[in-house]
Amino acid sequence: MSKITFKKPGNFIYPVPAVMVSVRDKSGRSNIITIAWTGTICSDPPMAYISVRKNRASYPMLKESMEFVINLPDEKLVKALDYCGVRSIDKVNKWEDMGLHEGKSQIVSAPTIEEAPVSIECKVTQVLPLGTHDMFLAEVVAVQVDEQYIDEKGAFHMDEVGLVAYSHGDYMSLGDKLGSFGYSVRKKPLPRKNVRKRKKRKA
Ligand SMILES: Cc1cc2nc3c(=O)[nH]c(=O)nc-3n(C[C@H](O)[C@H](O)[C@H](O)COP(=O)(O)O)c2cc1C
Repeated sequence: MSKITFKKPGNFIYPVPAVMVSVRDKSGRSNIITIAWTGTICSDPPMAYISVRKNRASYPMLKESMEFVINLPDEKLVKALDYCGVRSIDKVNKWEDMGLHEGKSQIVSAPTIEEAPVSIECKVTQVLPLGTHDMFLAEVVAVQVDEQYIDEKGAFHMDEVGLVAYSHGDYMSLGDKLGSFGYSVRKKPLPRKNVRKRKKRKA
């Protein structure tokens, strides 16, 4: 394989999730900001992060409340995902413009996005200034999921949600399943009864 080296290195870790982060300030005003610099950072306690530029209108809202909700968009929410990342609360009401509704969080004061299939409530434990972005490290305090993806045994089927990824400027749907955790060393294939067919999602 012949490779070239970019003289000015940049971020090249793709795909990443692009999520819709909902926030609420002390006055009660709420907003949604699209964030791609996000991820899981600890299993126990469950922790996640978002990295946010200081000039985002959401930044002082986050700093003030020290809480937020990470909402995972499905394919139906891609337009709203983009809109919330190119328009500011300074000029528009993103909830109204995208027909989105506030849902009730269990623990934090920031709202969930009712239309999002997964909402992850977070409480900030640390803010790390890194450069262009400040990293908000947070503990996950509650998770709400759309019950249509829960089976009769109580298991949640993330593969049926229709999640999206962000890769180098593009929003992508996820393709076919290529394997599962540990499949490379598994001696026997899973019995057929444990292989669930991808369900058709509700329109
Ligand atoms: C796909 C995508 C990913 C983004 N990721 C980030 C991010 O990780 N951090 C950030 O500060 N801004 C990110 N942005 C930009 C903000 O979402 C954007 O500036 C937004 O308009 C800020 O809204 P606000 O001013 O209402 O807070 C992203 C935008 C898009 C479209």
